[in-house]
Amino acid sequence: MRSLACNVAGIDFKNPLVMASGTFGFGQEYAQYYDINQLGGIASKGLTLHPRPGNEGTRIWETASGILNSVGLENPGVDAFLQEEMKFWEKIEPVKIANLGGSTIEDYVLGALKITKDAEDRRKLNRLAVDMIELNISCPNVKEGGMAFGIRTEVAREVIREVRQVTSLPLAVKLSPNAENVVGMAVMCEEEGAECVSLVNTFSGMKIDIYGRRSVFQNTYAGLSGPAIKPIALRMVHQVAQAVTIPVMGMGGISSSEDIIEFIMAGAEVVQIGTYNFMNLRAGEDLLNGLTAFMEKENINSLDEIRGIIS
Ligand SMILES: Cc1cc2nc3c(=O)[nH]c(=O)nc-3n(C[C@H](O)[C@H](O)[C@H](O)COP(=O)(O)O)c2cc1C
Repeated sequence: MRSLACNVAGIDFKNPLVMASGTFGFGQEYAQYYDINQLGGIASKGLTLHPRPGNEGTRIWETASGILNSVGLENPGVDAFLQEEMKFWEKIEPVKIANLGGSTIEDYVLGALKITKDAEDRRKLNRLAVDMIELNISCPNVKEGGMAFGIRTEVAREVIREVRQVTSLPLAVKLSPNAENVVGMAVMCEEEGAECVSLVNTFSGMKIDIYGRRSVFQNTYAGLSGPAIKPIALRMVHQVAQAVTIPVMGMGGISSSEDIIEFIMAGAEVVQIGTYNFMNLRAGEDLLNGLTAFMEKENINSLDEIRGIIS
């Protein structure tokens, strides 16, 4: 019997396929194309304490083998997520990960408190609830003059320490590849009691309109994702997996089942699929079939046989 089962922080995933934040909404639209109950998990669109309209102007720019995005965390806010989107999430099987952002530490703490209380209340009624919080520390820290929390280890430490104190839910911290030291950041997350790290978020990039003589993006820079970033993301996942004992959710440019195997061999416990959801609306189903076929062909019974085998 072949098994794709994985475990992160005591939570069982039926397989390693998790849909990445911001690329799958809350899953409802993709449910028209395939049975999303096949998925291991879903990370919500990045939530903030208050609703955000997102950025003006160009939001997505296609590049060679990837996209630049400047969505600006458009989202309905934590309260609307809990009241509205949870109605759908309560009915689906994949592990439910609430991706949480914030511009101040207070925002993160209040958001985490609300999500945690809601999950505890639902569980008391034997209802399905958010299983895990994924802290997106790539948001600009308004108090630090706009620099993202996720760049400097000691600034990120404060956010994680405060959130850790207010939530009973397993905590994953989503790392930015733009961090001054991504391995040091991951080690700090483990020290502060995070149960998991996920990486990578998008790489800071740029596109210039040479006729208009300006950046095409309102905020000058935007985040690069997709196949273009995969080799760098894979290297970072490998380095982080070797440096921490907590599980790693690996992502960055995955667009085939072979890519997933590479991330698992590099040490990822589970993987997240982002931009590929825009290239293939049935990405989850196709990748799962590819993964099963690879295991058959290579006579692999469990992903543990190949996880982290690259030293
Ligand atoms: C359009 C878009 C929106 C995203 N929004 C979020 C977000 O709200 N929160 C977050 O943590 N990551 C967000 N991401 C980053 C992805 O979750 C993922 O980390 C990144 O795209 C790398 O994976 P990929 O190359 O498979 O897309 C977003 C990415 C894209 C392309």
